[in-house]
Amino acid sequence: MSSLLIDNIGELVTNVAGTGEGGKLGIRRDAAILVEEDRVAWLGPARYAPAAARRIDADGAAVLPGFVDSHAHLVFAGDRAAEFAARMAGQPYTGGGIRTTVAATRAASDDTLRGTVRRLRAEALRQGTTTIEVKSGYGLNVADEARSLRIATEVTGETTFLGAHVVPTEYADRPDDYVGLVCGPMLHAAAPYAKWIDVFCERGAFDADHARAILTCGQAAGLGVRLHANQLGPGPGVQLAVELGAASADHCTHLDDADVDALAGSATVATLLPGAEFSTRSPYPDARRLLDARVTVALATDCNPGSSYTSSMPFCVALAVREMGMTPAEAVWAATAGGARALRRDDVGVLAPGARADLMILDAPSHLHLAYRPGVPLIRQVLHNGVPR
Ligand code: NIG
Ligand code: FE
Repeated sequence: MSSLLIDNIGELVTNVAGTGEGGKLGIRRDAAILVEEDRVAWLGPARYAPAAARRIDADGAAVLPGFVDSHAHLVFAGDRAAEFAARMAGQPYTGGGIRTTVAATRAASDDTLRGTVRRLRAEALRQGTTTIEVKSGYGLNVADEARSLRIATEVTGETTFLGAHVVPTEYADRPDDYVGLVCGPMLHAAAPYAKWIDVFCERGAFDADHARAILTCGQAAGLGVRLHANQLGPGPGVQLAVELGAASADHCTHLDDADVDALAGSATVATLLPGAEFSTRSPYPDARRLLDARVTVALATDCNPGSSYTSSMPFCVALAVREMGMTPAEAVWAATAGGARALRRDDVGVLAPGARADLMILDAPSHLHLAYRPGVPLIRQVLHNGVPR
């Protein structure tokens, strides 16, 4: 059996609450961690470390669970840099540019799409992301949604069918027919490649009745529910997510008190996506209000060519701390264990015996540096499935 010991760890963030310092971060000092195959086999004080076939000297650095990016749209073609420039010159973001990416995606070859997905997956891994969710949503017909998901399965098991991203142009005057297509032939073709179903529930996309119909069909087909909710304005999305027992309500930018109460009384995670507010120059969600109400909060990138073209979880952590009222510890937890909760996973986002050996060694002595040193490449080395990358 291949074994690897990482020792001389100055700060080991385990996310096992109550086992060390830092509350939920479960921080251990002067620690070591033993990896066997793709799992954590042991962790504890460096002086008790068992022997191993190979060794990495962390040289006093911080070691954390790999980031769990629970919301990304990696399957697309083209980019929308000009739309971004127009926004920075004062244009609002409406989501209307999604149709531009749909046209480019439909016209692209499998190899072009595959190249983009692999490039972005590799980019995210270099920045510490060891688990990533990938959505369809730029195909919006039976063949292109199924194709998008099939390509997504080549890089992750966390795939999400987002056929209900917007109503495509050819169905513009008959949205009910499009919902029928999504619930019928499109779901049938997509389900073999999908673990989750998602809907963009927003004015200009899908209303609560359409979203409920689509998500219920997805549940009947065995898919778990997640939802784009309350991104651009107040709306029914968060309440619907809670009603359906969704794993996550994503964006949560415009919430009223009833939305916060509903989340607080539920098992639905609020996934905040500050890259979207950054890139659309919009007000950030109020993470502090959610945390104070004891809502479970996750952070994710929303990586997509329109509203948030970043694959960087460290960037999202820094934004959450500077702009959303989160402490560095809360943001790091949300970007690791929080993302795992949003995907209903207990084998990632945590470092404990039996967990996946997905971790990162920082070029820094503490998790604090992820927010304290924004924009600096602080990920020295990543282990994914126990393999140094
Ligand atoms: O999560 N809001 C809907 N979907 C994406 C944006 C997609 C796009 O603009 O291409 C989001 O922000
Ligand atoms: Fe999104």
